[in-house]
Amino acid sequence: MVYYDKMIFDISTEGRKGYSLPKEDIARQALPETLLRDDCPGLPEVSELDVVRHYTNVSFKNFGIEKGFYPLGSCTMKYNPKINEDIAAMPAFSGLHPYQPVETVQGILHIYDETQRLLSEISGMHTFTLNPYAGAHGEHVGLMIMKAYHRNRGDHKRTKVIVPDSAHGTNPASATVCGLESVEVPSYEDGTVDVEALKEVLSDEIAGIMLTNPNTVGIFEKNILEIAKLVHESGGLLYYDGANLNPLLGMARPGDMGFDIVHINLHKTFSTPHGGGGPGSGPVGVCERLVEFLPQPLVKKDGDRYVIDDHPQTTLGQISHFYGNIGVVIKAYTYMLTLGKDHLIDVAKFSTLNANYIKESLKDVYHLPIPGVCKHEFVFDGLKDKSSGVSTLDIAKRLLDYDMHPPTVYFPLIFKQAIMVEPPETESKQSVDNFIAVMRKIAEEAKENPDLVKNAPYSTVVKRLDEGLAARKPVVKYRDLEPSDA
Ligand SMILES: Cc1ncc(COP(=O)(O)O)c(C=O)c1O
Repeated sequence: MVYYDKMIFDISTEGRKGYSLPKEDIARQALPETLLRDDCPGLPEVSELDVVRHYTNVSFKNFGIEKGFYPLGSCTMKYNPKINEDIAAMPAFSGLHPYQPVETVQGILHIYDETQRLLSEISGMHTFTLNPYAGAHGEHVGLMIMKAYHRNRGDHKRTKVIVPDSAHGTNPASATVCGLESVEVPSYEDGTVDVEALKEVLSDEIAGIMLTNPNTVGIFEKNILEIAKLVHESGGLLYYDGANLNPLLGMARPGDMGFDIVHINLHKTFSTPHGGGGPGSGPVGVCERLVEFLPQPLVKKDGDRYVIDDHPQTTLGQISHFYGNIGVVIKAYTYMLTLGKDHLIDVAKFSTLNANYIKESLKDVYHLPIPGVCKHEFVFDGLKDKSSGVSTLDIAKRLLDYDMHPPTVYFPLIFKQAIMVEPPETESKQSVDNFIAVMRKIAEEAKENPDLVKNAPYSTVVKRLDEGLAARKPVVKYRDLEPSDA
């Protein structure tokens, strides 16, 4: 039987119901003719058990952090403690309405203000807004602040932003969306910014630089103080893409490195399940001279009350509905309080340890283009012995047969066969040892039976796909599938 036979419409049985409605005790209202349907909506007719079984089965076909190891580089797929969900779902929070008078929502505003304060302390910034919905949204807001700052000084010439060649794709994309032109700077062999090349592109047209530290290959930008000095001296600002903050928690602060604007991916560093388009949050923090440009509404403490600072003169205005994804903020706040100051630093230590342990254990079989100590992630450039023709894509597909999510592949673009591994701190020694053993096994298979790896996966619902065709001609309706596609 092929998998789509079990889709919910296929198990529909005429007349079967999964609900019972209470007895009608209010008078029927006649709907206007134009709102009436001509025919039935064509919904599946199923029992409650049918629905529960259907969705339980579908969930087994997916892969998530609660199913297995998920070392997706640049994504920090850490386990999310259930207490975060429990707290965020408490009726005292989930029942709030954004239009409630401020006096009746002092509790959530306290959490909002505390989260802003904790993030400021952790990152070394002056003030945060929790309004942006995601990392990329944070980048957009941060660059709007950068633009507003220059414009407010009457400097209209600064229309370019420097982005290193190893940067995450959202960085140049955000610059373009903000009407800024990206200027690429190359990296040294160790993946850090080429400072000499940076000096050459700095000018009075540069609004600032976007950097992530540790950078996208997991290496700490050791010249950051010099970079900050150079950019500031030329009149630009420094933007910190905080998607890689995990290994710095309690260790180092972007504010102390000279960054002026920071975004943090709450849905990575501070837990919250993410991926697949779930809710996220990309708070933006700024140094003192940029506070006036933060978007509204801005939550502030005034004496012992919390207030909404709605109408500062220079604000960017509103960039999200109401206050942002409050549920994600509550989860992040819970996470910070659960770990406390003493244990947030363990996140940094153990994520870094896990990454270095895996890197050192596999570098004799996988090509390590940047040797030395990494932070929370690192990049292999395919197998060391490439004579079998087994590619990074083949290795990623074969990992699925061993019940593991593949690392990020073919990113960053500076390596042809990039395999970017990020094993978060929530993974145990057993779990990383298991990954190491499987990666070694796949390297052996590549040598002894390359076709086995090249045709993987075998154990998944959908086997090897034509990825080009899948991207260009996606089949998004199960009824359009042919049995041979399954
Ligand atoms: C380095 C880096 N910057 C920015 C982003 C964008 O974050 P988001 O996916 O929340 O928009 C990511 C996400 O993967 C990232 O890894």
